[in-house]
Amino acid sequence: MIRSRIIGTGSFLPPKVVTNFDLEKIMDTTDAWIQQRTGIKQRHIAEPGVGAADLGAPAARAALDAAGVRPEDIELIVCGTTSPDYLFPNTSCLIQHQIGATRSAAMDVNAACSGFMYALSTANAYVRAGVYKTVLVVGAEVLTYLLNWDKRDTAVLFGDGAGAVVLRAEKGEHGILTTHLGADGGAKDILWMEAGGSKCKVTAENVDGPERDVRMKGTDLFKRAVVVFGEAAQKALEATNMTVADIDLFIPHQANTRIIYTAAERLGLDREKVFVNIDHVANTTAASIPIAIDEALRTGRIHGGDIIMLAGFGAGLTWGSVLLRW
Ligand code: UT7
Repeated sequence: MIRSRIIGTGSFLPPKVVTNFDLEKIMDTTDAWIQQRTGIKQRHIAEPGVGAADLGAPAARAALDAAGVRPEDIELIVCGTTSPDYLFPNTSCLIQHQIGATRSAAMDVNAACSGFMYALSTANAYVRAGVYKTVLVVGAEVLTYLLNWDKRDTAVLFGDGAGAVVLRAEKGEHGILTTHLGADGGAKDILWMEAGGSKCKVTAENVDGPERDVRMKGTDLFKRAVVVFGEAAQKALEATNMTVADIDLFIPHQANTRIIYTAAERLGLDREKVFVNIDHVANTTAASIPIAIDEALRTGRIHGGDIIMLAGFGAGLTWGSVLLRW
């Protein structure tokens, strides 16, 4: 059977680090509150003028180097992003140009924090269908440009960054075993931004108004997240006749350590098998899972043959899981 196997990973974080103590100076918050409620200690923030592709391209180059693949051998780029450089063209085209992947097709996927799960599943479907053999999947975000730094309930949560993986079609038992995506568009109001798209244009009147804020019902989102997260992971196990005991490492979307550990507990998974890096990167939206995969690999948490569960959730609501054998 043809599977898509991750043969290289990379990540890139913008150099500027903003700690919780830095935020204490500009808003009514504390390091203690942020750490206790979210697990975050610091986040990386892109300078003005830096777009998602500027972070995605170095992450992609690192993944290509690790894979030993030339840019011109990439047939498709799929980029998960909620903070594209422009409304159009897409961020994948900009990454394609920056890395010199001259022969590839390029598409973006917007599924907010589930963006990498959707992007990876899309890429996997193309590989499994025999359409493409070598695909670059990126999660790239400069979500902090959307934040209102006067709104402590959302401003403390997010960071910028990018991660990338190279997928290669391979016969055998290694690679992506199953993918499961879900959505509930009825829950749009749990996490959204009103102005900036076709339905509600940015105007002189609303540009500094609530229409341009990231609006989040944090507690509602928290409750939905722990359920959909676990269910997506459970479906992946059922589809492969595996149990929680088979999982060597769970790499979840990094939104909140309490959400992550509650979901792991519901699954019956030991904390030692959960990869968490939210403390130093915060919530990087669609980039969080590929950044975490790259870090897990570089720090020796992933070994050949390991069963890895990836799972994410985000605005939409959207959610998804990918189970793979490394
Ligand atoms: O990737 C998907 C995107 N987002 C998420 O997944 C977020 C999901 N939700 C969460 O992670 C949590 O709901 C939050 C971390 C956002 C909030 O934690 P919480 O335990 O649900 O707190 P809360 O919203 O119920 O607020 C508790 C208190 C409130 O004060 P009062 O009303 O009790 O006096 C807030 O005003 O904490 C206050 N608060 C803050 N205090 C200090 C809210 N934000 C802050 C802050 N610093 N940054």
